[in-house]
Amino acid sequence: MRVPIIAANWKMHKRVGEALRFAEQLSVMIQDLEGVEVVLAPPFTALGALKEAVASTPIELAGQNVHAEPEGAFTGEISISMLADVGCRYVIVGHSERRQLFGETNELVARKVAAVLKAGLRPILCVGETLEQREAGRTFEVLEEQLSTALDGVAETQATELVLAYEPIWAIGTGRTATPELAQEAHKFVRERLRKGFGTTADRIRIQYGGSVKPSNAYSLMAQPDVDGALVGGASLDPESFYAIIQFDRPPTEETA
Ligand code: 13P
Repeated sequence: MRVPIIAANWKMHKRVGEALRFAEQLSVMIQDLEGVEVVLAPPFTALGALKEAVASTPIELAGQNVHAEPEGAFTGEISISMLADVGCRYVIVGHSERRQLFGETNELVARKVAAVLKAGLRPILCVGETLEQREAGRTFEVLEEQLSTALDGVAETQATELVLAYEPIWAIGTGRTATPELAQEAHKFVRERLRKGFGTTADRIRIQYGGSVKPSNAYSLMAQPDVDGALVGGASLDPESFYAIIQFDRPPTEETA
């Protein structure tokens, strides 16, 4: 009942030409694909060109970040309507790199989530703990804090538009992936927290896992009952490996293992 959603977070990678080549290759690979949503989150500079390139494909676009205000004197920032204008249906909000490197707080993340929903786009809300927090046994406490603030202003009627991404910070870009069991445990916690806020609507909200997702581990992660997709960094930069992740329902082969 939840359509899996596999998203590529390219972070600060790919110029326009590279992004277009990727989209061209991927769209051929996925032309007969059904039952999974595929999203690309390129740098802002590639969005305009990609809008045209993916128009007749099933690929959806996402912004990697956004400002909470509709417009104004915010040098260097991008608004939600600007993202919609270049074809975005999704916006990544509260990625741990935004939180850690650019000082985004739970309160700011909450304002962004509310603004994105109000504008009719879909936030991909990222949550996750540091290694230190996990080792101190504080994982659930941290997730609770992040979720309760970010979801505070979200009405139950808007909740199905949300996508959550559980991204343990210790697994991002480290090659160290949460085991399927650890991922499921955290996803279950997130689902239960969503149930507290939105009742049975929580069963329709997709929760992605992010953190060193690769062709070799996508199958076992996605087999978990509360893992509904992946938010992929490094392994999404190459169309072959991203496509192998999109085919998560096939057990890894010698080639992908
Ligand atoms: P990696 O897949 O490179 O670990 O990055 C994960 C991530 O941060 C996706 O948003």
